[in-house]
Amino acid sequence: MHRVAVIGGDGIGPEIIREGVKVLDAAGARFGFDIAWEEFPIGAGRYLETGELVTEDDLKDLGKFRAIYFGAIGDDRVKPGILEKGILLAIRFHFDQYINLRPIKLLDGVSTPLAGKTPEDIDFVVVRENTEDFYVGIGSRLIGTERKSLEVVRQMYQVKFELDVESDADELAYQIGVITREGATRVIRYAFELAEQRERKLTSVDKANVLTEIYGLWRDVFTEVSRDYPDVETEFNFVDAVTMWFVKNPEWYDVLVTPNMFGDIITDLGAMIQGGLGLAPGGNINPGGTSMFEPIHGSAPKYRGLGVANPLATIWAGSMLLDHIGEHEAAAAVLNGIEKSILEGVVTRDMGGQAGTADVGDWIASYLSSV
Ligand code: IPM
Ligand code: MN
Repeated sequence: MHRVAVIGGDGIGPEIIREGVKVLDAAGARFGFDIAWEEFPIGAGRYLETGELVTEDDLKDLGKFRAIYFGAIGDDRVKPGILEKGILLAIRFHFDQYINLRPIKLLDGVSTPLAGKTPEDIDFVVVRENTEDFYVGIGSRLIGTERKSLEVVRQMYQVKFELDVESDADELAYQIGVITREGATRVIRYAFELAEQRERKLTSVDKANVLTEIYGLWRDVFTEVSRDYPDVETEFNFVDAVTMWFVKNPEWYDVLVTPNMFGDIITDLGAMIQGGLGLAPGGNINPGGTSMFEPIHGSAPKYRGLGVANPLATIWAGSMLLDHIGEHEAAAAVLNGIEKSILEGVVTRDMGGQAGTADVGDWIASYLSSV
């Protein structure tokens, strides 16, 4: 028996998570385990009613689970940033889910916009740092009345770059990125361990040619950790070059490790080359604590309640969840089921098919009971 927390969230979140739960239950029935699901009403609905995002009680209760299954958040009635920061990032940070694991894998039968590339070419994993960098939330907007602090920042800026910053500009904003030795070490070590289980090739992503302080530290840590893994081949790539190579030569990559913000950006690109956001799953992992599995796409409010959203990213995230809780055989079977449903043509509109959200879940669930 496993216990898993469920947050359907907003928009299409509840619909897609319902299919994920259905498929994981079917996998449990086939492979001999039960999942007790506990639902949490976290999301825009509750926020608009009560003003609560994630409460202390939520966090205390969620902390009793090894895994959270998360749909999506985001709602057009709420100003951008409130739900994202107050719910999704709050959970990632509170549970110190320092690894964001995002497989980029072109499944059989899925078409990629990259001409001539096949499933053999597109099969790598991005390990995104998930708690630091420009996501730490240190920054400020300074306007006229805060002139004094504004002056300080402006002077710092002038000294550093010898630039003549316009002196009558009365508004300024800054945001600071933070990398710690400990934060970089743990995620880079995780990536090396993963690389050892795969093709023993690890690419570090950064922008150390410009952001020399934070990514200079990142590179130092990478170099030091690499000494413990002499059989893993390593390289440094600048993030701008990575976006080029993902398109031109995706077969080059096997495991990449990246600071938080670049990881956010390159995994949307990764999602596109693996067939679209409807197919891209992710895991927010704290190996010793509470982890959370989710599709990397958002809540697509305009499709809410229509039953047309693609549940595959969520079901795939469910497969990652099963792997995480030790149900490896079931995890592999779920991914197989996804692939089979695609080959059978049971796919939603975004993939050129006619199936509804629930049709896809039903098909994979019944496939699982037949294997
Ligand atoms: C993601 C999302 C989030 C992020 C947002 C919604 C906070 O884009 O999971 O990639 O930036 O991490
Ligand atoms: Mn993103």
